[in-house]
Parts: sequence; C-alpha cells; structure tokens
Amino acid sequence: MTENLIELGKKKAAIKAVEENVKKNMIIGIGSGSTVVYAVQKLGEINKEKSLNLKCIASSFQAYQLIIENDLELVSLEQYPKIDLDIDGADEIDKNLNLIKGGGGCLVQEKILASNSKILIIIADFRKSSERLGSNWKKGVPIEVIPMAYFPIMMKLKNLGGTPILRMAQSKSGPLITDNGNFIIDVDFGEIDKLIELDRKIKSIPGVVDTGFFIGMASKAYIGTRDGDVLILETPKKK
Ligand code: A5P
Repeated sequence: MTENLIELGKKKAAIKAVEENVKKNMIIGIGSGSTVVYAVQKLGEINKEKSLNLKCIASSFQAYQLIIENDLELVSLEQYPKIDLDIDGADEIDKNLNLIKGGGGCLVQEKILASNSKILIIIADFRKSSERLGSNWKKGVPIEVIPMAYFPIMMKLKNLGGTPILRMAQSKSGPLITDNGNFIIDVDFGEIDKLIELDRKIKSIPGVVDTGFFIGMASKAYIGTRDGDVLILETPKKK
C-alpha cells in the first residue's frame, strides 16, 4: 500500500512539474533515478502531441536511455551549454531546498547539468522532505572520489566527524564504479548543522570529485504527498 502511494507520489509530482514548466523549444536537462522516469515519459508524450521541439541532455547512462526510449532528441552540453530547465530527483530536500543527491551514483553529472541550467526543478515523493539534511536520508552523503585516493579520503572524512562506507556494486564483487570511472563513498554525518562549511571542507580533500550536497541550486520542488496531492515548495527567484 505504502509502495503504491510512493509511486503515485513520484508520478504525480513528475507530471505536474512537466506540465507547469515545459515550453516549446526548451533545452532540458534530464536527471537520474526512479522519479525522473515518469517525467521523461510525460516529456515524450507532450513533445509528440504538441510538437514542442524539445532537446534533452542526459545526466547518466540511464537518462541517455530514457531520452532515446521516449523518442526525444538527445543533445550535448557542447551544442547547448545553457540549459533552460533541469528536472531531477533527490534523496533529501530541506526546507530551503538544499539537497542530498547521488543515491543513484550520478551526482557529478547531475550537478554539472544543474549548474548550467537556468532553473533546477526537483521532483520527489513525500519521504524526501525534511527540516534538516541528514534527518531522513540515513544512507549518508554520497561523495564521488578518484579510486586511488579512496582510503585516505575515508580517513579524512572520519576526522570530519563522518562514518564513511565505500559503496559496493551489486551482482559484482568490489566497489561500485560510477559513469565516470570513480568510486562513491557514502558518509553518515547525522543531522547536518553547518552545511556550507562541511561541503567546503570535503571538497578541499584531494581526490574528491564532488559531494552530493546541492546547496542553493534548486528553484522549486514538486512533492507528491501521501493524500495524492502535489505540494510545491519554492525558493526566492534567481536573478
Ligand atoms: C541519482 O544519482 C540521484 O541523485 C537521484 O536523483 C536521487 O537518488 C533520486 O532518486 P529517486 O528518484 O529514485 O528517488
């Protein structure tokens, strides 16, 4: 039952976000994860029905496949370095729309798309919103690292107060390898107090490619609620 509510929440949030924000001729960044699947299906539908001429940029191999499967035009950042709208999921969303992302291991490409987009819209179900990052998402903050540096990085993350775990692959022995050929370390810091400072400290460790903290990047979040509605959270408009 809860499973159905979660899927319904994801679907409703994704559809509403697409219906309210997508316009003709847009360049759209496609995030990764299970919620984005519903958004790309809707994009495919309205692109055909309304001849919208949408162009999509992928944040992962999964997103690349979704774009192709849904008959959307696949383009690159070289062709279109300025994205009009980026649609992505999140693992946790705080009240200021700061995010933890990377549960699916695609945080680096996702952040590249988000940082080159005029608007980042997050779609998620009711499990994802929280007062403070680290209170709902208990698997830890994903951090992508260069493989040869993973061990000293884990020691340094412990010194920062975290409990790091090297993410392992499924159906294969050994660590998970990202689309960029790197490792992911998931670090539990508990509820996070000084978010900006912590992010800066982690990023200053040599070998860290990026963190799954997306601070001040999202403009809006569409949250599918338990009662089948969609709650829209917004930050003040970006200039
Ligand atoms: C992918 O690396 C992640 O950042 C996803 O966007 C995030 O984990 C949300 O995924 P779901 O939509 O599957 O919850």
